[in-house]
Amino acid sequence: MRGVSPIYSRAEIYDAVYRGRGRDYRADSARLTALVRERNPAASSLLDVACGTGANLAHFAADFPDVAGVDLAPDMLRVARERLPGALLHEGDMRSFELGRRFDAVTCLFSSIGYVDDLAQLTAALERCVAHLNPGGVMLIEPWHFTENALSGHVTGDTVAVDGRTISRMSHTVREGDGHRMTVHYLVADAASGIDHFTDLHMLALFSRAEYERAFTDAGAARLEFLDTGPGRPGLFVAVRP
Ligand SMILES: C[S@@+](CC[C@H](N)C(=O)[O-])C[C@H]1O[C@@H](n2cnc3c(N)ncnc32)[C@H](O)[C@@H]1O
Repeated sequence: MRGVSPIYSRAEIYDAVYRGRGRDYRADSARLTALVRERNPAASSLLDVACGTGANLAHFAADFPDVAGVDLAPDMLRVARERLPGALLHEGDMRSFELGRRFDAVTCLFSSIGYVDDLAQLTAALERCVAHLNPGGVMLIEPWHFTENALSGHVTGDTVAVDGRTISRMSHTVREGDGHRMTVHYLVADAASGIDHFTDLHMLALFSRAEYERAFTDAGAARLEFLDTGPGRPGLFVAVRP
């Protein structure tokens, strides 16, 4: 199944890679909080869909007294629960989850929405986000790259040293059918265990900007905006539940 990759069963390695690469969850969350506040100043609850290890949620919790998360991967949720004891952190699929309550903001970040098979599933996932918003609630969805911008043959590589581990991550992404196939190799070394190697495969769906916009409309979202988030980044959709 898309989205269930070995790295999501190795949550500490996932976190170490992005910490080592300098991903600034605090600044990221502050920027996203400001976008919510501009549209809904009194927002006090936030749900992060595909929340992973809760790194964004931990910062959102400083601004929203009531935070919750949904993710498919039990190991990612294990770390999220350590970070956010007491928060509702639900194991579920973004295409079908139902929490039985609503929020003032819903986020789905780091292109996690790309783990769908087709436009119908994209629309279903967005519909689940809208269904969990209060009227006037704000959704922030970071898409995967648009079809019209998608590269093929893209390589990235990093080596980080975090908490006594050295981790090398190298990725290769190619276009395949209607999607991106990303192969990632990890080398994880520490003094006690030596060097471990594993390979990850990510299948991410490609949609045009117009297809995303149609899916938001069909899901019941209103006041849709697309914000450019800088070179090489896939941008951000912002919408509101009427
Ligand atoms: C790239 S990670 C992003 C995690 C987190 N939002 C972050 O920014 O660090 C993608 C996350 O999506 C989750 N995921 C993949 N498919 C999913 C699905 N169908 N429903 C819910 N979560 C899913 C994975 O388990 C993983 O935690």
